[in-house]
Amino acid sequence: QKQKFMITTFCHGLDMLIGGRGIALGQITEFCGVPGVGKTQLGIQLSVNVQIPRSMSGAEGEAIYIDTEGSFIVQRVVEIANGTIEKLNESSDGKNDLPLDLETVLSRIHYFRAHDYIELLALIKIMDQFLKEHRTVKLIVIDSIAFPFRQNFSDMMLRTRLLNMIAQDLAIIAESFEIAVVLLNQMTTRFGNSGNSDKVTLVPALGDSFNNKCPNQIILYWREDMRFAHLVKSASSQEATVQYQITTSGIRD
Ligand code: GTP
Repeated sequence: QKQKFMITTFCHGLDMLIGGRGIALGQITEFCGVPGVGKTQLGIQLSVNVQIPRSMSGAEGEAIYIDTEGSFIVQRVVEIANGTIEKLNESSDGKNDLPLDLETVLSRIHYFRAHDYIELLALIKIMDQFLKEHRTVKLIVIDSIAFPFRQNFSDMMLRTRLLNMIAQDLAIIAESFEIAVVLLNQMTTRFGNSGNSDKVTLVPALGDSFNNKCPNQIILYWREDMRFAHLVKSASSQEATVQYQITTSGIRD
C-alpha cells in the first residue's frame, strides 16, 4: 500500500487532532482565528516542515506561500527554519548527514504576494502551470484567504461566486497534484445566533457557502495566555480541542 505522507506541525497534540501525523496531502485544510493567534506562524512552520525528508517521515516537498496581507517576515522564517533543522538534527542523533540547511529550506519556499483579489484569482489560475513545472511542491498556503475579500467588496453575489470558484479550483489542485492546501482565514462577528438576536458570536469569515467547501476546519483561539486549536470538522477525525504554543523556534506542544 502507498504510504501516506503528512506535514507535521511539530505540535503533537495538533497533529493528533488533524488526523494523527499532521496535515494530509490532497485536501484543503482551513485554520481560522483572530489576528495574532498564530495563523501566519503555523503557515510558515508548515512551509518549512513540508520539506522534512521521507527518511524522517516527511513529505520531502516544496511550498508555495501566497501572502495577501504582507505578514510573511523572512527573519521569522529563518528562526523557524533553524528550529526545524535543530530538531531534525537531534532526532537523527548525529547518525545522518544534516538533512536540510537554511539556504536550501529558504529556496524551497516559493513566495507570491497578492495585493488584492484580482491578483489572488490570477495566481490561482496560473497555479496549474506552475505546479506542472514544479512537481515537488506538496503544500500551498494562502495567508489569508479572507483579507482580499473583506476590503471594499460591495457586490456580495460576485464575492460568493468568486469564493466558490476559488474553493473549487483549490480542491481540484489539491487532489490532482496530491498537495496539501492550507487556507488561513479570519473571523467575523455574527449577530443573532440561535434565535437570540442580541447574541454576538465570532464565526469564520467568508460565509457558510465557502466554509462548507472546506472538508477540514480548525479554529485557533486564545484563553488568557494559552492558545487552543479546536477541530470543527474533518474528513477523518472527531471534534476536539488541544493546546499549542508559539516559541522562538516555531509551533510546539
Ligand atoms: P493576523 O495575520 O494579524 O491575522 O494574525 P495571525 O493569526 O497570522 O498571527 P501571527 O501568526 O502573526 O502570530 C503572531 C503571534 O505569534 C504573536 O502573538 C506572538 O505572540 C507570536 N510570536 C511571533 N513570533 C514569536 C517569537 O519569536 N516567539 C514567541 N514566543 N512568539 C512569537
